[in-house]
Amino acid sequence: MGLVPHALAPHIPRDENEKGTLMSSESGSLEALLDENRRFAPPPGFRDKANFGDPAVYERASKDREAYWADWAAQLDWFEPWHTVLEWSPPYAKWFLGGKLNVSHNCLDRHVQAGHADRKALIWEGEPGDTRTFTYGELLEEVCRFSNALKGLGVGKGDRVTIYLPMIPEAVVAMLACTRIGAIHSVVFGGFSPESLSDRNNDAQAKVLITADGGWRRGGVVPLKENADEALKASPTIEHCVVVRRGGELSEQVGATLQEGRDHWYHDLIADASTECAPEQMDAEDTMFILYTSGTTGKPKGVVHTTGGYLTQVYATTNAVFDLHDDDVYWCTADVGWITGHSYIVYGPLANRAQVMMYEGAPDTPDRGRFWQLCEKYGVTVFYTAPTAIRAFAKWGDDWPAKSDLSKLRLLGTVGEPINPEAWMWYHKVIGGERCPIVDTWWQTETGAIMITPLPGITETKPGTATRPFPGIEAKIMNDAGEERSAGYLAITSPWPSMLRTVWGDDQRFRDTYWSKWKDTYFPGDGAKLDDDGYFWILGRVDDVLNVAGHRIGTMEVESALVDHPSVAEAAVVGKKHEIKGESIAAFVTLKEGYDGTDELLAELREHVGKKIGAIAKPELIVFSADLPKTRSGKIMRRLLRDIAEGRAVGDTTTLADPAVVKRLQEQHEAEEG
Ligand code: PRX
Repeated sequence: MGLVPHALAPHIPRDENEKGTLMSSESGSLEALLDENRRFAPPPGFRDKANFGDPAVYERASKDREAYWADWAAQLDWFEPWHTVLEWSPPYAKWFLGGKLNVSHNCLDRHVQAGHADRKALIWEGEPGDTRTFTYGELLEEVCRFSNALKGLGVGKGDRVTIYLPMIPEAVVAMLACTRIGAIHSVVFGGFSPESLSDRNNDAQAKVLITADGGWRRGGVVPLKENADEALKASPTIEHCVVVRRGGELSEQVGATLQEGRDHWYHDLIADASTECAPEQMDAEDTMFILYTSGTTGKPKGVVHTTGGYLTQVYATTNAVFDLHDDDVYWCTADVGWITGHSYIVYGPLANRAQVMMYEGAPDTPDRGRFWQLCEKYGVTVFYTAPTAIRAFAKWGDDWPAKSDLSKLRLLGTVGEPINPEAWMWYHKVIGGERCPIVDTWWQTETGAIMITPLPGITETKPGTATRPFPGIEAKIMNDAGEERSAGYLAITSPWPSMLRTVWGDDQRFRDTYWSKWKDTYFPGDGAKLDDDGYFWILGRVDDVLNVAGHRIGTMEVESALVDHPSVAEAAVVGKKHEIKGESIAAFVTLKEGYDGTDELLAELREHVGKKIGAIAKPELIVFSADLPKTRSGKIMRRLLRDIAEGRAVGDTTTLADPAVVKRLQEQHEAEEG
């Protein structure tokens, strides 16, 4: 089976004059990437049974995109049908206008009513090895109970609820309960600090916070309630806090205290709650959730997703990309605190009546074989993880996966960052036994669902490329002027159902960030290249957003956290290549008069950033420097800092106000690296 050609590929000029924003210093390895010619056609046995095995779907979708998306939407239950598929008044899109539906109904009641009450919905294992399973019927009852409990706390349609939980079933229950009653959830990753949590509570003006006494991570306890208490001191809009008892040894160890009147145990609230709760009839364009993500300023943005379009696209992509069948056991290793957890642990899979695996803890606890033991134990067939994890597994060695029977796996996926061909090949050989297609899926918090991806029964894959836009999605590569090129910036050229609708409380930022670069075209902030087969190679961010172990962090956020420390006068943060994490954080710090760059201060600054943002944002490298390389107009030259951090020859310094700064910094950096 040959490649499915991309209609645009042959016509696009290569613009040699394109500016060096796109990783000029790495062009060597880039060329190597594009020479990657290993090809992997879908195994015939896979293709024959796949939900999508006929490439005609691409043509059908592009001929009439609205009809194509309406076909997907029609597979869901609607209380009232839509009258118009799409209203596009750039940059504002509305999908399925007039339609009314409920997300939790579509993820639960729909399947129970169709006779699948006893089918497994959620198969959960905690880090210490405790297990819980919910059938679709049981999950529906639990969700109804908690929906009623939330109503009892005064939560209604449109109210914001923050969810700050570990990877336990109640996280899924809480999200679905919000959607059932029309409350807008804002899930905050459990690794974020109290300050990050209160910032998000305040930005969303959340009324209720749902947390747990704690969660397990790498054998240690994450003290979520303690963090929540700290955050609540600065979260005036929160009226009630619901606390899940994680149970077992953890709860005894933590011994969380509840504040009378404000705090409530989850198990107390649901004990007498009714197992019936009529789902709220939501308008397709009612806000479903907010999810905060890092951008190029110090303040994360609340990405807003609405109900009908979001559910339609996560439903469609889960169905087509993960090729789910009745006997599949599906496992996505993300955390529900990120968009991947929202779309591909909760909403997409449950809307598809999947049997969803969920694991609380770390991949190396109690040993480095944990994921593979889980795959064997639960018979996982479809497995979705991040390149950073794959690189770590590869480094830990083939012996770990070899100890477990992985023969049930039939499809593998990756997401979150570019996957290097070596990691792809390792995944293919060692985990996939050379028989499983790999879907490298490109998308973002803002896109809500997968946008560029192979279809596993159709697409011939090549290691390192996300291949082609999903049917019904239109993408191009453009230069600054908005002209189509084979190398430049990735651009999404028409609206898609699960697109973000705005930034919560800051519509101007929505317009500026995504819609001001080109006319009526979405700017995702990634660099990309198109190869001769019309495949998209996503190269990473072109803005000041870092991708550290698949986590998005803004350089400005880290800089703001650093200058918040009394010793710091100025800070510049850049990404530094990292073998496992993809990127790590390097900070160049100028101290105020009277402070010395001691090892103690260095450790204190790292801790300070951890406290302000969360452990994921702690800089790996801090270089103290008397001054930073600036242009004569005072702009910090990050390109030079990246060169220094990665130990490369430093590029052009002629525009520097003081060229000697670079030499001093290099010496300093060498001294720090030891
Ligand atoms: O740079 C791209 C990278 O992750 C960014 C989006 O991050 P976030 O909103 O946190 O969502 C991550 C999970 C969807 C993108 O702008 N990225 C994501 N997937 C890929 C990728 N880069 C290359 N290949 C991918 N498959």
